Amino acid sequence: MPNGAENQLNAVRLEMEKLTHEIARHDILYHQENAPEITDAAYDALIKRLKKLEQEHPQFIHAESPSRRVGSAASSKFQRVPHKIPMLSLDNAFSTEEMAAFITRVTKQLKWQEEIPPAVFGEPKIDGLSASLIYENHTLKRALTRGDGQVGEDVTHTMQTIKNIPKRLPKNASAGRIEVRGEVYISIDDFESLNKERAHQGEPLFANPRNAAAGSLRQLDARITEKRPLRFFAYSLFDNHQNFTSQENIYTTLKAFGFTTPPFARCLEGIDEIEDFYAFMTAKRPLLGFDIDGIVFKVNNIPLQEKLGFVSRAPRWAIARKFPAEQAQTKLEKIEIQVGRTGTLTPVAHLTPINVGGVIVRRASLHNQDEINRKNIHEGNDVIIQRAGDVIPQVVQTINPPSHQKPFRFPASCPACGTPVVQEGAAIKCPNSFACPAQAKERLEHFVSKKAFDIEGLSEKTIAFFWEKEWILRPSDIFRLEAQDKQSLTPLRKQPGWGNKSAENLFNAIQERQTIPLDRFIYSLGIPHIGDVMAKLMATHFQTFSNWWQHLHRLMEAPLAEQHADPFLKIEGIGPAILESLQHFMQSPINVEEVHRLTQHISIQDAPGKKERGDENLPLSGKEIVFTGTLTHFTRAEATKLSEQHGATVTKSIVKSTNLLVAGENAGKKIQAAQAKGIEVLTENEWRALLHLQ
Ligand code: IVH
Repeated sequence: MPNGAENQLNAVRLEMEKLTHEIARHDILYHQENAPEITDAAYDALIKRLKKLEQEHPQFIHAESPSRRVGSAASSKFQRVPHKIPMLSLDNAFSTEEMAAFITRVTKQLKWQEEIPPAVFGEPKIDGLSASLIYENHTLKRALTRGDGQVGEDVTHTMQTIKNIPKRLPKNASAGRIEVRGEVYISIDDFESLNKERAHQGEPLFANPRNAAAGSLRQLDARITEKRPLRFFAYSLFDNHQNFTSQENIYTTLKAFGFTTPPFARCLEGIDEIEDFYAFMTAKRPLLGFDIDGIVFKVNNIPLQEKLGFVSRAPRWAIARKFPAEQAQTKLEKIEIQVGRTGTLTPVAHLTPINVGGVIVRRASLHNQDEINRKNIHEGNDVIIQRAGDVIPQVVQTINPPSHQKPFRFPASCPACGTPVVQEGAAIKCPNSFACPAQAKERLEHFVSKKAFDIEGLSEKTIAFFWEKEWILRPSDIFRLEAQDKQSLTPLRKQPGWGNKSAENLFNAIQERQTIPLDRFIYSLGIPHIGDVMAKLMATHFQTFSNWWQHLHRLMEAPLAEQHADPFLKIEGIGPAILESLQHFMQSPINVEEVHRLTQHISIQDAPGKKERGDENLPLSGKEIVFTGTLTHFTRAEATKLSEQHGATVTKSIVKSTNLLVAGENAGKKIQAAQAKGIEVLTENEWRALLHLQ
C-alpha cells in the first residue's frame, strides 16, 4: 500500500478511537455524574461522525464503540455497588406436603413445644424485580438492583422517577441508615398500554410485565423510565436503630413511612390457615391487576427468624409457595405476519383454541426469528403454550419437531404489499411506508385513536371497509368523506350493513372532530418517537400550529451544524432521536402534502397560552429556568410541568437568557456555569417555596 494511503487510514483509525473514548467520557459525565460538558446536539454530532466512519471502515470498529453498546443490557453500564446485607433468594414449595415439611423443619429447629406452630406472615410474591433503597438522613440516597445478590447495580436515577417511592422519610423515622427492599413492577393494564404504544411506534414488544419493568428500570436515561408507569411494593426494612418485633410490625412501619406494601398480607396460624390463604390468593390472583407468581410465607416473629438463620443463599425462616405454571398442549395452525404502522413485521401464532387456566387462548406471540429458531417453531406442529403470569401466552416448546425441515422463516417480502423487507436493528421492516396497505391502515387507525382524533365509529373494521372501497386512503380523506358521499351514486347509506342513521352518525362524529388541539394533532401524525407526552411538550413550546410547522421547515433547511444548535433541542425531553424522526418525516413530500391537505379541512387549536394562564401574576412569569441534579420531591417531568404552569419556560442548558438554575442533589458543573454567568441558583426547596409548594 502506498505510504500516503496508509497514513490516511491510520489517521481514520486514530480518529475513531478518539471519538469512542470521547463519547464514553461524555456518557459518564451525563449519566453518572449529572454534569454534561457539551450540549446534546454536540454529543449527537460526535455519534454521527463516528457512525459514518464506522460504516466506511468497519474493520476499525472499537470493542467499546457506542454502536456496539446500543440496546445491550451489559451490566457494566451501571455502577456496581456491594449490598451491605446480601439480597437472598427463597426456597420453593410446590405442594401442601412441601409446605407441611417447611413447618415441621421450623418447629424442629426451634425446638417448639406448643401445639400450634409459630405464626407465619403470608404475602403475595410479586413477579417483578427486587430492589434495595437506602435512606440516610431521611433522604433517598441510593437505589440498587439485586444483581447477583452480593453486588447490585446503581439505578438511583431511574428509581427516583417511581412515584410511589417516598423520596423522603417522615421526621419520626430514624435519621441513620435505613434500607427498604421490595419489588419494582408494572401493572397489567399499564403493560398492555405500553406495548400498544410500542406497537404504534414500531418498537419491539415486551414479552411480559416483568421484562417491561426490567427494561424500564435498567435505562441509562431516566427520562425514558419516567414515562414508564413503574411502581414499587415494599416488604423488607432494616434500621440499625430500631428492632422490629415481627414482619407484621415491619409492614405497619413501612406503611407509616409512606410505602405501598403488597395487599392482602396477613398473619396465619397453623397449616390449615396457610392452605386457606394460598387458596384465597389463587382465587384473587386474576383480579389483582399485577402479576404474582406465588405466596411468600415468613416466620412472623423476628427473634425467631434470627434463631433460624440462613442456609446457603436462602433464609430458613421463609418459603415461596409457587403457583403451578399454567400450560397446555395445542396445535400451532399457522403463523401470521402482522405489519405495524411503522412497517415492523411481527409474527403471531394462531392456535387451535384451548383453555389454559380458565382463559381461552387462540393466539400466542412469537417475538422474532431468533426465538422461532430457538424453539424450532413450525406451522402445523403441536406446541406447549404457557400463561405463567404472562398476559400474552407464550409458545414454550414444539412437540416432536420435524428433523428434516428448517423452522419457520420470516418472509423475504412484506405480506401486505410484496416489497422486499429490510432489517433495522432487531426489527424486520417493510420499507414501503406510503403505499403498503397494512401500514396505511394502521396509520389511519392511529389517526382516529383515542389520544388522537378520537373519531367514534371509525374502527379497525370500518377503516378496512373504507380502504377496500378506496374512499379513505389517507387521513385527509376522512374529512372529505361526507362531501364525496353527497355526490356519490352509491352512497354510504346504501352499503350493506349501513343505513341512514349509521351514515349520519359517522358524518356527525367526524364533524365533531374538525377542531382539534395542537398536541392531539401532532400526536395523530404518528411520527415515530412522538408519543402523546412528546406531542404535548412540543405543543406547549410552539403554542400554534403555524409556529410548529414553520419551525420544522426551518429545521430542514438549516445546515447540519445549525440544526443541532436549534433552540428546539433545548426543551427538556427532546433529544437527537426525536430530531432525527422529525427530519425523516419532513423529508417526505407525501407527508408534507398530507399535513397541508389536513389543514384545509380542520382547524387546529393553539395550546393554552401564557396569556390564558393569567401570565403576569404567576411567580415564574417570563422566566427561563434550567434544572440540574436529582430532585427529591418531583420527577423532572413533574418539575417541568409545575414550572410551566407557574409561567416559566424550562430549557435543558444554561444560555444567556436563562434566569434561574434549580440545583437538586449531586448537581455538577452547571452550578459553576450559572454562577459564572451571574444566574441565580436555587435549591429544590427554594424553588418549591417560590411556587408555594411547601
Ligand atoms: S422476601 C430473604 N417477599 O422473590 C427474603 N421476596 O425468590 C427475600 N419477591 O428476590 C425476599 N415478592 O425479588 C420477599 N413479598 C415478597 C416478595 C419477594 C417477591 C421476590 C424477591 C426475591 C425473590 C426470591
